[in-house]
Amino acid sequence: MHEIANIVILTGAGISAESGLATFRGPGGLWEGHRVEQVCTPEALARNPELVHRFYDARRAALVAVEPNAAHRALARLDAAWTGELLIVTQNVDDLHERAGARRMLHMHGELNSALCAACGARSGWTGGMPPGTACAACDAPSMRPDIVFFGEMPYEMDRIERALAEADLFVSIGTSGAVYPAAGFVQTARYHGARTLEMNLEPSAGSGYFHETRLGPAGELVPLWVEGLISYARPS
Ligand code: APR
Repeated sequence: MHEIANIVILTGAGISAESGLATFRGPGGLWEGHRVEQVCTPEALARNPELVHRFYDARRAALVAVEPNAAHRALARLDAAWTGELLIVTQNVDDLHERAGARRMLHMHGELNSALCAACGARSGWTGGMPPGTACAACDAPSMRPDIVFFGEMPYEMDRIERALAEADLFVSIGTSGAVYPAAGFVQTARYHGARTLEMNLEPSAGSGYFHETRLGPAGELVPLWVEGLISYARPS
């Protein structure tokens, strides 16, 4: 059997769907009649900052009303139990993984609860009421924006992610459509370096063919089953 020590898990909007947060590309994926690709861009922020801020204000408000689901909780259990290397890379800007208790994780597309100064790069927590033009506490420029990676911007922590993918024995993708790069290409990188690859999603993703195995169904059912199996596999008998 393929020995597993190092695990990289990629999550997308589908893992938070059962908590009640809308995915991007499914039904209800439009926002005020706009496609996300038209709102989440540096050009949109420059042209219509109120629209962009309103989009993220609405998503931040939605976050307050939801809770982590069984899939987030299972990954947090795995994080706590797994003695090998493990990294949860989420494309999600919600905080449900950390609220479930996951620690070894990063947000490659940024976080709703963080604010970024477009002038000096300083970060702060997103406090209620940060309209466009809010001044940066560090440099005073009126440049605080959502700390979100827009289309056309470089995702965060790519060096760390690439290193983890190169060392992974197992790469698992959960609840992502495989429509957005570079995350959509992680399966190929991990596989190139010898990892076994597993996808769990409601439907086959765009990159389904790259995975050794695809399990179709809701993350809230599939992920806990997979985690229990993995933890009992790792436990010495
Ligand atoms: N369980 C598992 N998968 C689900 C569930 C569920 N309960 N509900 C939906 N899905 C699947 C959908 O079938 C779809 O394939 O989750 C996927 C969600 O895809 P997207 O909405 O495209 O979300 P994601 O892949 O995370 O988007 C990537 O695009 O807009 C940008 O930056 C944003 O991080 C985001 C990126």
